[in-house]
Amino acid sequence: MTNHAAPQSNPDQAGAASLQRLTKFARDIGHPTSLPIIAERILSGLSDASRHSQGLLYLLDRERECFRLVNVPTPTSLITAPPVVPLKHPLVQQLADRQDILDSSVLADSLRTTLLDNTADAQFATLPINLAIPLLNRCQLIAFVVLQSQKESTVIPSDTLGLLTAMAQSAANALDSFLLYEDLRQSQVLMRRTDRLRSLETIAGGFAHEIRNPLTSIKTFIQLAPERKDDSQFIGEFSRIVLEDVNRIERLIQEILDYARYMEPQLTDEDLNEIVSSCLYFIQVKADSRGIKIEKDLAPELLRGMLDRQQIKQVLLNLLLNAMDAIGDKNGTLRVRTTRLPKVGGEMWMQVQIEDTGHGISAENLDHIFDPFFTTKYASTLNEGTGLGLTIAHQIVREHRGEIQVQSTEGSGTTFLINLPSHQG
Ligand SMILES: Nc1ncnc2c1ncn2[C@@H]1O[C@H](COP(=O)(O)OP(=O)(O)OP(=O)(O)O)[C@@H](O)[C@H]1O
Ligand SMILES: [Mg+2]
Repeated sequence: MTNHAAPQSNPDQAGAASLQRLTKFARDIGHPTSLPIIAERILSGLSDASRHSQGLLYLLDRERECFRLVNVPTPTSLITAPPVVPLKHPLVQQLADRQDILDSSVLADSLRTTLLDNTADAQFATLPINLAIPLLNRCQLIAFVVLQSQKESTVIPSDTLGLLTAMAQSAANALDSFLLYEDLRQSQVLMRRTDRLRSLETIAGGFAHEIRNPLTSIKTFIQLAPERKDDSQFIGEFSRIVLEDVNRIERLIQEILDYARYMEPQLTDEDLNEIVSSCLYFIQVKADSRGIKIEKDLAPELLRGMLDRQQIKQVLLNLLLNAMDAIGDKNGTLRVRTTRLPKVGGEMWMQVQIEDTGHGISAENLDHIFDPFFTTKYASTLNEGTGLGLTIAHQIVREHRGEIQVQSTEGSGTTFLINLPSHQG
């Protein structure tokens, strides 16, 4: 048997070197956001520390009740590895029972004595594995690493074993938090989808209700038409109202289609001030023609975050148009401000405030403005509304993990606040 431990001049130096290696290892595996990269770093850290040349990492697949090989970006291993190892495999059982690193002497016995009639078992039994390292989380085996070197079986000195055990614990923690994070991410995606389906259901219900009125009026006119076909006043009125109703139905259908066609936000690194400026540019002409003054006060520092540019524009334009509708022809002011805002827990929001001096919202209506089809803009008003603008804005902001708030005083004005996560903090 060969001892591969590097000769160390004194125990203090050896201890310091181990500590350094452990710290570097923990740092390397703490940040990656993909499983293959974490696996690759774990394997290279453990192989280096134990002076092995090749390694494989198997991760517990709870649903399928087995351990699954994690493919790494640049595999170094020459071992023909079984992709899956069952829980009852003798190696898995030994690692779970002993909760300790197994070296070649124990491994040879454990693999020889219990040969099961199973491909994975057979392949493992013939593998010249030198070392098997369990990765444990709360005493449960969540993964394991097998290492191999070209040399004959090796004996690992006890201080290296100590270092490998500490590295394995650190690797298990990193894997565990990565898996938890992945779980959380997937649940969030699922929740967002469920949310979306639920609001589509509400919207579909509202839609049926909304088109019933215009349909009833069209039907009534059509029923009356044969006997009043010579009444030119009736026919004139008939054409006007039916056309209006058909237009309204068309608009509702378009809104529903836009909503249904909606896709997951395509997030890219964006400058919020730049998106706000581009929206203000759009509405400037309309504001000028109505005598509305726009005051722009953008944060001097960069406000960057992961945003879907088109969707955030849709949100802002709807809020800006709502504000202009509320001001009407009263020569009011529209103030748009952006700021950085610390969030509880140390993260940063970027906030857009849209403040108008319009007619405000009554306390009673304030509870309903985000409801699908809630609108106070009927055919008689300047712009007839569908009442979907704020519903969609709310949905988009939520999907960006942001918040939308409103403060309003009837008769004097309204302020909408949109908080979006910023990745500068
Ligand atoms: N800035 C505001 N000032 C006063 N009332 C507002 C303001 N913003 C929204 N509202 C009220 O909230 C209602 C719902 O707004 P929302 O944007 O969802 O629909 P809409 O503007 O009526 O229709 P659409 O957006 O489809 O044109 C409006 O009809 C209005 O009564
Ligand atoms: Mg609107």
